[in-house]
Amino acid sequence: MKILIVGAGGREHALAWKLSQSPLVDELFIAPGNGGTVLEGTNVAIKDDDLPGIVALAQEKQVDLVVPGPELPLVLGLQNALEAHNIACFGPSAYAAQLEGSKAFSKTIMREAGVPTADFAVFDEFEDAKNYLERQTFPIVVKADGLAAGKGVVVAHTKEEALDALQSMMIDKAFGMAGKRVVIEEALVGEEASFLAFCDGEHCVPMTACQDHKAVGEGDTGPNTGGMGAYCPAPILPESEYAKTTDLVIKPILEALKKRGAPFQGILYAGLMMTADGPKVLEYNARFGDPECQPLLMRLESDLAEIMLACCQGRLHEVEVKWTPQTALCVVMAAKGYPGSYSKGMAISGIDTAEKLDGVKVFQAGTTVAEAGTVTSGGRVLGVTALGDNLADAKKQAYQAVDLVSFENGFYRRDIGDKGLAR
Ligand code: AMP
Ligand code: GLY
Repeated sequence: MKILIVGAGGREHALAWKLSQSPLVDELFIAPGNGGTVLEGTNVAIKDDDLPGIVALAQEKQVDLVVPGPELPLVLGLQNALEAHNIACFGPSAYAAQLEGSKAFSKTIMREAGVPTADFAVFDEFEDAKNYLERQTFPIVVKADGLAAGKGVVVAHTKEEALDALQSMMIDKAFGMAGKRVVIEEALVGEEASFLAFCDGEHCVPMTACQDHKAVGEGDTGPNTGGMGAYCPAPILPESEYAKTTDLVIKPILEALKKRGAPFQGILYAGLMMTADGPKVLEYNARFGDPECQPLLMRLESDLAEIMLACCQGRLHEVEVKWTPQTALCVVMAAKGYPGSYSKGMAISGIDTAEKLDGVKVFQAGTTVAEAGTVTSGGRVLGVTALGDNLADAKKQAYQAVDLVSFENGFYRRDIGDKGLAR
C-alpha cells in the first residue's frame, strides 16, 4: 500500500521510519517532510495546511492511507476532505478534532462525560472574564480557546498577570481569532504525564505512559517549548494503572463523541496532571505528541501500518499492539534561541556515528538537505533516541549518542528522564 504522511517534524520522521519497516507499505510520501524523512520515502513540497494540495497529491499518487502528524490539518478538516474522495485518513474528523482545536469544546465535553479536570469557566467577553477574576484566588490559568502553537496558556500567579493575559488574548488578539474566547481554570499542582491511545471510534488500546519535558531549561525552567525530550514507559503512571486510566480519561470521551455522531478515530492523547487527588486532564490532543512519538515508536514491536488501518476500519480489537519491555528516551537537540528566534543553515555532523551505537536512532526535525549535506532549518533540530534495559541505561545511551552529534550553537537539556529516575 501507499501512505502519505503530512508534517515536517521529528514525529513525522519517526512515523516515516516505523511505517517504512512495514511489509504492507510499498511506497511512502511525506508532505513536506524534512532532511530525515527523505531517507525513508519521497518528500513532496506541500505544506500541512494546504488541504486541497494534500488531497490532490493523495489522488495523483493513488495513496491508500493519509497519516497527518500535526493537529492543524486535522482541525482544518483533512479527514473530511479525504473522506469525500474515499481516501482513508488515520485521524479524527474536524468535529472530533475540536477536542484539541477548542479548549472550550474539550472542557465542556470533559464535564459532560465526567472526566476529572480543573474547574473552569468559558468567556466570550473581556468584561465578563475580568469580573470573574475579581472573585478568584491565584494562581489561576488563562487559556486561549483555539490553536496557538503551544503558547496560548498562561499560569498567572497574580490578578495583574491574569488580566494581562486576558488583555493580550481578547483585546490585542496576540493569537488572532484563537484568543477571542478564553477558558479560565483552576491551577493544578503535580507532575505531568502523557497518556496516548489508539482509537477506532469505538475500541481503544492505550500506549505506555510517557513523560515530556516542556520547559526549555534544566529543572523545568524557562519558557515552554514543543518538548525538549521524552521517555517511556514513565514510572509516574505505572502499567498497573493503565486500564483504570483508560476508563477514566479515554473511554468516556470516545463514548461522548460517538453519542454525538462523531466517533473519534486516530490517536487520543490525554495530557495529565498527576495530582494528590489522582490524574486530571489538562488537555486533549488529537494526534501523537512530539517528541513522545519518537520513544513510543522505538518501543513498538507491532506493525504500525496494520494498527492504523485497523483504526480506520473500526477493527482495532483484532490487531495486536506489542511493545518491547525496554525503556526509550529521546533528547531534543535545539538551535540556540529556541523557542524564540534562532539561526538556520548550520551543518550537522555525527548522525551516522551516533546511529552506530546500540539501540540508537537519530530522528530529524528541523533539518533539510543542502548541497553541503544536512543542515539545520528549525528550532528543534534532532531527537536523539535510545533504547535501554531500564531508564538509567536508556538515558546513558542517548546522551552518549548526543555527544557524537554536533552543530554550531546547538543546545539540549541534560536532565531528560531525571524525574523518572528520582522515583
Ligand atoms: P495545555 O496546552 O492546556 O496542556 O497547557 C500547556 C501547559 O500549561 C501544560 O502542559 C501545563 O504545564 C500548563 N497547564 C495547563 N493547564 C494547567 C492547569 N490547570 N494547572 C497548572 N498548569 C497547567
Ligand atoms: N509534546 C507535547 C505535544 O506534542 O503536544
